[in-house]
Amino acid sequence: MATTATVAEVGLDLTDRDLYRDGFPYERLAFLRDEPVWWHPLTPGVEELRPTGFYVVARHDVVREVSRDPQRFTAFHGSALRDVPVERQGESITNSDPPVQSRFRRLVSLGFTPLMVARLDEMMEGWARRIVDSLAGRDRCEFVSEVAELLPLHVIADIVGIPVEERAQVFDDVKAMLRSWDPESGVPFEQYDGAQMRLVMYAHALSTVRRGAPEDDVWSRLVHAQLTLDDGSVTELNEIELDLWFLILSIAGSETTRNAIAIGLKALIEHPEQLERLRADPSLMGTAVDEVIRWASPVLYHRRTVAADTSVRGVPLEGDLPVAMFWPLANRDERVFPDPYRFDIARSPNDHVAFGGGGPHYCLGANLAKREVKVMLTELLSRVDDLALDDDSAGGDGIRWSVPGLAVPVGLGLDRLPIRYSLRS
Ligand code: HEM
Repeated sequence: MATTATVAEVGLDLTDRDLYRDGFPYERLAFLRDEPVWWHPLTPGVEELRPTGFYVVARHDVVREVSRDPQRFTAFHGSALRDVPVERQGESITNSDPPVQSRFRRLVSLGFTPLMVARLDEMMEGWARRIVDSLAGRDRCEFVSEVAELLPLHVIADIVGIPVEERAQVFDDVKAMLRSWDPESGVPFEQYDGAQMRLVMYAHALSTVRRGAPEDDVWSRLVHAQLTLDDGSVTELNEIELDLWFLILSIAGSETTRNAIAIGLKALIEHPEQLERLRADPSLMGTAVDEVIRWASPVLYHRRTVAADTSVRGVPLEGDLPVAMFWPLANRDERVFPDPYRFDIARSPNDHVAFGGGGPHYCLGANLAKREVKVMLTELLSRVDDLALDDDSAGGDGIRWSVPGLAVPVGLGLDRLPIRYSLRS
């Protein structure tokens, strides 16, 4: 294991899942912003993921520096602490650097024409309306499974053009994959492979159908998308790339947005003055969405790897070792956010890094995710009153966080949020 004399050790085990049982421990880990770079030693928890320790960065300026410099900090070995297998390194949008990664990004972006984006928006509003309709006739629900997780899943299904009657099975597989990462979810890890395989086969079959008979959906455009590169050659997504893109979309787009919506609603209920302010002045929805996303910071960390010996703010970093950028901690950096622990729906400017630090891997779904949060909150606030946490929900089983831990970047999620409400007729 390599350490350098000038890198302080974090002094606690960030792979300890107990740290995150009640949500992200913002105050407990605030000290990680005191130094530009920390070294996380090889604890037993880390050993389950990888053979070396790793660097940790948590300051807003440092997180941005690392995420914006792919030459010094490569994504080639993957975005999670566990190395991707050698044969898959550099293979996908998340595991590659420009210019290889730029080709992926430009190709997959070809599906999202302005017309398509407008259609997706329309479908999104329809889903939000139907989801809130389903709350009628009662005064309590489990918000995560009955509201928050449904919109992101339907939006992905709309992008791919999955017929409504086939969605339940696809959604079950996506959820099984995500849950299998959490040892306490009751979904054994062995189910991951089966669910992944079914999803890949589904995407593959769909691509074949769309290739022969294109429809008016994003997937048909992707299947036929062609991009002229700078050297004049023409490139397109091959079958494996399309299959993989379906998996990346399902994983990157579902749980993140689900957490933003659920943690956002929880924050609004816990800050009733902010909720009332937003109801009274819907023009604040734009800043409110950004604040919800900063507040929720749904992704724990992403990893880069030090390409060759370098230094950050005078701290030497050794080549080939991973760096974990902790987005939630950067989003509470007092150097950037005045009163960072205050939930303020009118916060402006709000230069949060929940979608990344502005580098080449900056979240490709950021605009889509923001629109989803906006559409869902707008629908809820215009039709639902008397929102409250349902502390004595059936069986006393209240709020629950799921903690997959650092094996995956979305290492923490709000799994259960029972609420009470009254629906306007
Ligand atoms: C609130 C919801 C979301 C949050 C907080 C979020 C956050 C992030 C973050 C932090 C990154 C990595 C940035 C970096 O490494 O520099 C990322 C990448 C990505 N996100 Fe999101 N995301 C969200 C929703 C979505 C949605 C809805 C989609 C697609 C439908 C999506 C697709 C992607 C993809 C494809 C990447 C990889 C981009 C690349 O490697 O070039 N995300 N996201």
